[in-house]
Amino acid sequence: MAPVLAAQGLSVAISTRDGRTVTPVRNISLALDAGETLAIVGESGCGKTMTCLALSGLLPRRAQVTATSLTLAGEDLATLDRRRAREVRRQRLAVVFQDATNGLNPVKSVGWQVAEAVRLRAGGSRAAASAEAQRLIGRVGLPDPARIMRAYPHQLSGGMNQRAMIALAVAGNPDVLVADEATTALDVTVQAQILTLIAELQREVGMGVVFVTHDLGIVAQIADRVAVMYAGRIVESGPVGEIFAAPRHPYTAGLIASLPRIDRRERDLSVIEGQVPPIDAMPDGCAFAPRCQRAADDCRRTSPPLARLGGVHAACLHPLREMA
Ligand SMILES: Nc1ncnc2c1ncn2[C@@H]1O[C@H](COP(=O)(O)OP(=O)(O)O)[C@@H](O)[C@H]1O
Ligand code: SF4
Ligand SMILES: [Mg+2]
Repeated sequence: MAPVLAAQGLSVAISTRDGRTVTPVRNISLALDAGETLAIVGESGCGKTMTCLALSGLLPRRAQVTATSLTLAGEDLATLDRRRAREVRRQRLAVVFQDATNGLNPVKSVGWQVAEAVRLRAGGSRAAASAEAQRLIGRVGLPDPARIMRAYPHQLSGGMNQRAMIALAVAGNPDVLVADEATTALDVTVQAQILTLIAELQREVGMGVVFVTHDLGIVAQIADRVAVMYAGRIVESGPVGEIFAAPRHPYTAGLIASLPRIDRRERDLSVIEGQVPPIDAMPDGCAFAPRCQRAADDCRRTSPPLARLGGVHAACLHPLREMA
């Protein structure tokens, strides 16, 4: 079965005002099957949002998105003209960001907007779309769906608008949902509700999900596979169980080690020292070297390629042993 979303060699280059070019996403490849959840994790500034924007076709024109191939639901977006590519994405792919309030139209009721999204993707009558919209608004945990249907975005709180945006995103069953920290700002109960809804839609209609988060705890709960991003590259990827049980890249190991655990005292909490390098000052060789305890001379000269190691792929010259 062909993946529902696949990118090969995806890069984003942006020309800065002072005439330089920065590359927040560098040659990444990913594939998502129907019904599957791929989590993209990494610290702030690693290029996760840029990746989502590139996949969704939402970057401004001055950002150059290049890819060897980029397919969505069987269509090769790289070979389509801009307009047709936008059309395919609108039908097949939905995206929700952390602060999605801007994604709602301020002069249309929430119900109208969700119903339009249902009609756009699934067709059908206005009445049927409206009924489906109301059902979805209930499923994202918004109280009194009939009232919310008639409400305008400014009449709802930020958290309610975020839930409305999620209803809008999944309306009409897109093939792919890209959720970029979409539930991060919601309280844990609402977050759990949304995650349940997403899981149900995955089972019911085979929706594939790209779930971007810095919260590894959620990844362990919901993801099938994980891609770890560092400084614009995927540095490790593989099935969630294998990555958590035996990370091969020191950055992944550091992220997992800094997860709070009940059986660990606070003073034992390890965090990765240092910071993600600024995009306009990438070190030569491995970008993680300045923070890596395993770094050797060759790491500062050679940029490690992503290579297969057992069941995962990792970009490291001195990877951790399998049963470290
Ligand atoms: N408009 C922009 N122009 C140039 N660089 C940008 C722009 N927006 C973000 N960046 C840089 O791109 C990199 C990746 O950012 P982003 O994708 O937002 O990271 P993440 O979502 O992982 O936190 C960061 O170094 C950020 O500073
Ligand atoms: S390549 Fe070297 S510096 Fe980079 S993560 Fe691996 S050991 Fe650390
Ligand atoms: Mg981001």
